[in-house]
Amino acid sequence: MKIGIVGLGFVGLSLSSVLASKGYEVIGIDNDIKKSEKISKGKLPFFEPDLEKTLKNGLRKKLTISNNFSLIEVCDIIFVTVGTPQKLNGTIELSIIKKAVKEIGKVIKKSKKNQIIFIKSTVIPGTLLNVILPIIEKESSKKNGRGFELISNPEFLQESRAIQDTKFPHAVVLGGYKNKNMQKAKNFFSKLHSKTPIIITNHQTAEMVKYANNSFLATKISFINQLSNICQNIPGSNIDDIAKIIGLDPRIGGKFLNAGPGYGGSCLPKDMKALIKFASDVGINPALLNAVEKINENQINEIILLITKEIGIISSKHITILGTAFKPNTDDVRESISIELIKKLLNKKAKITIYDPKATENTKNIFGDKIIYSKSLIDALNGSQCAIIMTQWKEFENLNNIIIKKMKKKIIIDCRRILAGSKLNAKYYALGIGK
Ligand code: UGA
Repeated sequence: MKIGIVGLGFVGLSLSSVLASKGYEVIGIDNDIKKSEKISKGKLPFFEPDLEKTLKNGLRKKLTISNNFSLIEVCDIIFVTVGTPQKLNGTIELSIIKKAVKEIGKVIKKSKKNQIIFIKSTVIPGTLLNVILPIIEKESSKKNGRGFELISNPEFLQESRAIQDTKFPHAVVLGGYKNKNMQKAKNFFSKLHSKTPIIITNHQTAEMVKYANNSFLATKISFINQLSNICQNIPGSNIDDIAKIIGLDPRIGGKFLNAGPGYGGSCLPKDMKALIKFASDVGINPALLNAVEKINENQINEIILLITKEIGIISSKHITILGTAFKPNTDDVRESISIELIKKLLNKKAKITIYDPKATENTKNIFGDKIIYSKSLIDALNGSQCAIIMTQWKEFENLNNIIIKKMKKKIIIDCRRILAGSKLNAKYYALGIGK
């Protein structure tokens, strides 16, 4: 069984590495030459726990990395894992995926294999049948079901746990026609994930499932953030206890109830916008989704309100931002609320110092010399008039009275309540704990 994987981002590279380490012959394709050269040497283009070792393991076995599409001609299965970024109007940019499937169409034209093409990239319902399929059929001069099979296979992995999620997904969704090829696809996944439920549905339902999943996660986060803001005004109340207790109710579930500065990253905000736009396009008023998004956008104002309450005028104050990655264990700063906060504070003429265990380089690419980058927690706090914890990095749990000693004013605003149980000689405010 030979497998081609087109697009080597978090999803494609994790899948390539995991499948190759399991012994499959994998050809990973990315049209970015520099990126594919780097990966073929066993180096990662981004930080992701456990990926480097899995990639190296795969490369030692049967993983080939290239920018040459024609190599996938010999593959039995092709995964499309390219990005579908956000356009300014909230819709998704399809040019990258269109280009990728055009290349695939050209390559499979010459192939005698009856390839199964799985689309993992997130696309709005209808895209597979109305946009992707016509391109492949035109370029390959073949018909779906006769010469190739197009199946939607949405991906649910989270950055920072990509390897774990690739090895042990909670579900496998296959969207397409119920035929022999679908049975082959099911057999492939059952062998790979013997304990995972495999759900077969049609293309458009599988496409919609991805948006349903991410928008529900976003809804949970905005729900708990709204409650957190209410708790903030109930002296003594604690949002974490509330989340823990309601999470014990199996109808609610305890995950994704961690209140904070709002959801960021390259997926949740983008998928929410795309779903809201799609709902309006089909004539549905997405009132709940709009509220979820509005609460998320407003969360940053709650933080600025807290800062202003504690330090007064922001202009020329030395503020330390702890964590710029959109979540811990990643160097990804895309749509990070921390980055938005820095932008807002810079507009108010604050002097910003940041510390992030992994995301400093990516933060530098955004702010250049407009802010100061510290190499350690203790340096970042030296002379600071207020520290704001934005990302839930484990390292920040080390913050203690010795580390904060050189702060000019000992004010700490903890948006993740990491230090809620610590005894700090500081004015300590935690988002979601009423004072
Ligand atoms: C998200 C989904 O969780 C994945 O299932 C999905 O496959 C992926 O998008 C995607 O569409 O590709 P990811 O972007 O890696 O994964 O990030 P999450 O772990 O979902 O976190 C998103 C944001 O929500 C982060 O800013 C995080 O800090 C925040 N969050 C998450 C909270 O504020 N509270 C929580 O309880 C959980």
